[in-house]
Amino acid sequence: MIETRCLPAGPSALAEGGQILRAGGLVAFPTETVYGLGADATSGQAVAKIYAAKERPEFNPLIAHCPDLASAELYGLFGDDARRLADAFWPGPLTLVVPARQNCAVSDLARAGLDSIALRVPAHPVALALLRAAGVPVAAPSANRSGRVSPTHAGHVMGDLDGRIDMVIDGGATEVGVESTIVSCLNGKVSLLRPGGLAREEIERVLGRTLDLREGETINAPGLLASHYAPNARMRLDATHVEKDEAVLDFGGRFADVQQASFDLSPTGNLKEAAANLFAFLRALDATGAEVIAVAPIPHEGLGEAIGDRLTRAAAPRD
Ligand code: TXA
Ligand code: MG
Repeated sequence: MIETRCLPAGPSALAEGGQILRAGGLVAFPTETVYGLGADATSGQAVAKIYAAKERPEFNPLIAHCPDLASAELYGLFGDDARRLADAFWPGPLTLVVPARQNCAVSDLARAGLDSIALRVPAHPVALALLRAAGVPVAAPSANRSGRVSPTHAGHVMGDLDGRIDMVIDGGATEVGVESTIVSCLNGKVSLLRPGGLAREEIERVLGRTLDLREGETINAPGLLASHYAPNARMRLDATHVEKDEAVLDFGGRFADVQQASFDLSPTGNLKEAAANLFAFLRALDATGAEVIAVAPIPHEGLGEAIGDRLTRAAAPRD
């Protein structure tokens, strides 16, 4: 056990956080999507601590976070498509997988031995200030224990990782609420590896063509493994009615008059609001002890694609 300090975001927490990262420690920090668990991406030893703290069973490749495109270009090669997407959406909830540079300083462990690299410039003032203070690329998966839902509040991070990491920087609730959209730009192809906080339609508008969801190639983004986001309760999706003993994850007020424990992702049917509420409501419903969570149907356009993806995985059978 180590002592985990949870500090409000501010100049001294940021300076200290940067120092801890440079010294090989672990710092959890807010991004606009979810809280990340950061380590110096150039140090295999520091990155190994992430896996230990999260109890991640296998070495998935991690996203290297940078404060701007210029620093991301130190590690990855940006072709025309990647550059256009970075120009349009960074800082923001988009991760780009591009070929790694020859002498890429990001450790093999962070890249899981691949010759590509996942890079992201987050749109959160605390994250950007921490990245600048650290002065190194920061590898950061979501700051939860493996198999748990992603944290959108500092309290969620403490609940999962207290005693296992050096510091949590509390920057309040995250705005987007689901992880970044991951797009690979490799061999002239641009494909969607993970739907997320940036809607596919926006990416396609900037590219001027459609993206392919690479079905059956989920191995390339292990975040797509079936039971990744797992509440303890079982999930019943696209519910058109609610059973007596079920808790309810509602959308658009469909089940507004039920007596059961119920959270409405967005009473007005706003998908952005729903994404922001998703993981916190899953945790809250789980905490009621209900065995089954009935989930109202949610439209699949825009951010609905990422919400549906996370719910489907939360509903997947576990071992
Ligand atoms: O919003 C987010 O993306 C958050 C915040 C903290 O930035 N991070 C996050 O990281 O969700 P994580 O580790 O949970 O998901 C990273 C995903 C994994 O599914 C991983 O397989 C994929 O990125 N990935 C990383 N490098 C890759 C590569 N070279 N090729 C394909 N997929 C890669
Ligand atoms: Mg995760």
